[in-house]
Amino acid sequence: MAEESEAEEKAEEAKPPHPHHHPSREEIRKQIEREKEEIEKRLENVEHVLVVMSGKGGVGKTTVTVNLALCLAEDADVGVLDLDIHGPNVPEQLGVDRPPQASPAGLFPVKGYRDVKVVSIGTMLEDRNLPVLWRGPRKSGFIREVLVKTQWGDLDYLIVDMPPGTGDEIMTGLEMLPERARNVLLVTSPESMAHSDVVKAGEAVKRMDGNLLGVVSNMHGIICPECDSLIEYFTEDHSEELAERLGVEVLARIPLDPEAKLRSEEEGKPMVLAAPDSRAAEAFQELAERVKEEL
Ligand SMILES: Nc1ncnc2c1ncn2[C@@H]1O[C@H](COP(=O)(O)OP(=O)(O)O)[C@@H](O)[C@H]1O
Ligand SMILES: [Mg+2]
Repeated sequence: MAEESEAEEKAEEAKPPHPHHHPSREEIRKQIEREKEEIEKRLENVEHVLVVMSGKGGVGKTTVTVNLALCLAEDADVGVLDLDIHGPNVPEQLGVDRPPQASPAGLFPVKGYRDVKVVSIGTMLEDRNLPVLWRGPRKSGFIREVLVKTQWGDLDYLIVDMPPGTGDEIMTGLEMLPERARNVLLVTSPESMAHSDVVKAGEAVKRMDGNLLGVVSNMHGIICPECDSLIEYFTEDHSEELAERLGVEVLARIPLDPEAKLRSEEEGKPMVLAAPDSRAAEAFQELAERVKEEL
């Protein structure tokens, strides 16, 4: 078979697809390769990318994302990309109530507290109170589109908040990011440690050529609102065991801090802003320092 010249191939790619045309596997592969190149270009001026994930929901991924972003933003330019289609709550926590601005040049993030640039799928949906009933391919397509279109500009850190599990969003998110950007923080909580979900998420990251930076143990003990002491409520520290199994370290232990959480609810701001002197805020600062060392 005669080899297709490069020019012919390009002309073929430039043709608009017929409306009833179903792309072949090869066409999809090429499309994805093109998108990956575009995403790499988009992230050219982003120094470090950090992906926050976990095998489970409710362990504190979003809490870690927003508080860490704010700590880093004290002396750096930071962006947050919220890829949780079903439960996006990054924007309200960072004080953003508008979707990114769309123009022919792309999607432009909106700035929240401490000038953190935010892009959240949640703000792009028509009615934020309606559930999103999308199956895998549609979710993956949307995530790819947002990654291709977002103009982050110059950033020191971009933090990606992932939905729970190891499903489509995570696979697509990690796969589409350039390899240098696949740095992952695994958030866990004492309860979920008994399960193998977090280990599974860690193994998934390794298989996708990700770089596991370390484990964050959230809700690690409770801070007594009366005397500010740390109350341990689990006899064993499973986070060490988990980190060892994955060949990384526990980068920070964040206590469950009811008082800081209360102040955060009252002020409608993350704990490091609403309760900067709390034990939880202190732990987030330590995490930010460790992250800077590890990246
Ligand atoms: N260290 C903490 N101290 C107090 N409350 C916390 C802490 N971490 C998380 N929470 C609360 O737990 C709930 C779940 O956390 P969230 O970050 O939304 O989890 P995820 O993103 O993993 O689903 C939220 O209400 C959050 O405010
Ligand atoms: Mg979340």
